[in-house]
Amino acid sequence: MAPDPDLHGLPPSYARVSLAVVTSSAHANLLGNIHGGEIAKLADSTAGAVAARHSGGPAVTAVMDEMAFLEPVHVGDIVRTMAQVNWAGRSSMEIGVRVETQPWNDPSTTSLHVASAYFVFVAIDGAGQARRVPGLVPETPDEIRRMREAEIRRANRLSRREAIEAGRHPGP
Ligand SMILES: CC(C)(COP(=O)(O)OP(=O)(O)OC[C@H]1O[C@@H](n2cnc3c(N)ncnc32)[C@H](O)[C@@H]1OP(=O)(O)O)[C@@H](O)C(=O)NCCC(=O)NCCS
Repeated sequence: MAPDPDLHGLPPSYARVSLAVVTSSAHANLLGNIHGGEIAKLADSTAGAVAARHSGGPAVTAVMDEMAFLEPVHVGDIVRTMAQVNWAGRSSMEIGVRVETQPWNDPSTTSLHVASAYFVFVAIDGAGQARRVPGLVPETPDEIRRMREAEIRRANRLSRREAIEAGRHPGP
């Protein structure tokens, strides 16, 4: 659906958020590396802050997809997330999150890109119903590219959901 024309569009930079934590053994899995769920939680929290900022109120995680883990994360790494709105519709927003690490004790090391994820957040009102969000006004070539690619992912998500529903409830 098209964004609400009554709401002024916002650039991705308006709601961009970065978070960082130093990992500890409490976050480790049985292999001694950081559990993927810890990274996913941090990414979800970062994306949630972006969604709340862009939409000006509460927003919930509706879909989390394409969480790609590219490299292991080690105990003692500083994990930094960077997130922004890639696309905004009527009530939903796609938030892209990039996760990078750096050893806590070696600032000379270049940051390593360890994970990326895309989340769909839906802005809700006090009754838990979807509410309208401002449109997105991309300003840079990268932001325009991200919006274009987010539209492809949205179309894929919706058509996948429709195909599954049609298979479960075939017509007469
Ligand atoms: C998210 C939630 C509010 C959506 O409710 P709903 O009745 O499906 O709302 P709608 O059908 O009006 O859809 C709302 C928006 O979400 C989008 N959406 C819903 N499911 C989607 C999916 N699988 N893929 C992509 N978009 C989706 C719709 O396209 C719509 O977007 P638009 O308004 O920008 O066009 C509802 O499912 C919910 O409350 N879920 C629980 C969320 C939660 O608690 N998350 C925390 C983790 S436990």
